[in-house]
Amino acid sequence: MASEKKKSTYISGRESRRISRFNRRVTRRLEKERADANKDPKLYTTQMKDPNNVVEFDNVCTYFFTDVGVVKAVDGVSYEIPVGKTVGVVGESGCGKSVTSLSLMQLLQRPTGQTVGGEIRFNLGDGSAYNIVNTPNAIMEKIRGNRISMIFQEPMTALNPVFRIGQQVDEVTQLHHPEMSKEDVKARTLQMLELVGIANKEGVYDMYPHELSGGMRQRVCIAIALACSPSLIIADEPTTALDVTIQAQILDLLQNLKDKLNSSIMLITHDLGVVAGMADYVVVMYAGRVVEKGTTDDIYHHPSHPYTIGLMKSKPVVGKKVEELYNIPGNVPNPVEMPNYCYFRDRCEMQCERCKGEYPPEIRISDTHIVTCYRYMDEGEVVGHPKSVDVEAL
Ligand SMILES: Nc1ncnc2c1ncn2[C@@H]1O[C@H](COP(=O)(O)OP(=O)(O)OP(=O)(O)O)[C@@H](O)[C@H]1O
Ligand code: SF4
Ligand SMILES: [Mg+2]
Repeated sequence: MASEKKKSTYISGRESRRISRFNRRVTRRLEKERADANKDPKLYTTQMKDPNNVVEFDNVCTYFFTDVGVVKAVDGVSYEIPVGKTVGVVGESGCGKSVTSLSLMQLLQRPTGQTVGGEIRFNLGDGSAYNIVNTPNAIMEKIRGNRISMIFQEPMTALNPVFRIGQQVDEVTQLHHPEMSKEDVKARTLQMLELVGIANKEGVYDMYPHELSGGMRQRVCIAIALACSPSLIIADEPTTALDVTIQAQILDLLQNLKDKLNSSIMLITHDLGVVAGMADYVVVMYAGRVVEKGTTDDIYHHPSHPYTIGLMKSKPVVGKKVEELYNIPGNVPNPVEMPNYCYFRDRCEMQCERCKGEYPPEIRISDTHIVTCYRYMDEGEVVGHPKSVDVEAL
């Protein structure tokens, strides 16, 4: 009976009311906790596991409390971003790449979206850290833009069409440095525009976004993101809206500026070519979980998880003629009712007897390379298990 009920794609009026009541109760409590400005700092300060990391995601669970049930968009995600390095996050649409970054910025669509478990440790520079999951709003406002900034996919929508470029860059500097005079702010804006390779900086200062090309607009967005020399830049599909030649220029620019500022980059993209050219480390996500992580060399030259192997096969290679590009058969499981076995099993061409068991553990197959797949049980050491949160207990 229970399994029949689960398979149904419809929910009754009664069930719908139960879900709404449950969502209200949980999200109200979580919102109340988050709004508490006088929270004891002990509740949100902690230590980095490794002070050489700028961010450590540790079993992060971010769920959406929707009308049809709880969507486990990010469920037990763990990875690190080392200081001064670029970490590429790849995976198909809907696998939780953006939700992970929005959890770090506390910019989820609330109250529906909530981080309900795990820790996101953000290094304050001396090895002490904020656990972003519990950090109150007032402190987050100082972290966003100042210490962590974001570059979005579509520069036209990221910029305000009714304000001049100069005003928009000035505003960011002013907000984070209220002590600076108007002249100093303008001088800094011009300096930033020059830094991102805009030759006619005085002219562009007085222009509106629609007067610039897509590439120029993305340069302005980068100038805004870097105005406060953040220690982490989150670039979510930064070049998807640009043509190929401009893409390469923008990526070069980002990489150079990152080195100048000694920042780190979290680079989210569908494009495996972009990651190969720019990232030091790669994290592969599937259905809200990390299935493989390692150095760029590990992932490109020794892809180990069947999903990563499929991704690599589906990538076009210059100079190689193929009749048809490989595509991974099947679909991602329903996010409201994830199975209790490997999420990739129904699409996996390499499954074995062990795969009938529960979700596979994280297995270290080299110093830098971790894969979540039973195929490697005898080759490596189990180093962890992605952990879900029991929503009924919330
Ligand atoms: N506001 C929301 N309400 C409900 N579910 C959401 C919401 N935002 C995201 N999700 C769900 O979270 C999951 C992860 O979404 P996310 O945006 O992180 O995907 P992504 O990996 O960034 O995909 P893309 O490559 O298309 O940007 C998706 O299954 C999506 O349905
Ligand atoms: S655990 Fe099994 S089913 Fe899952 S990806 Fe590995 S081989 Fe495939
Ligand atoms: Mg996204």
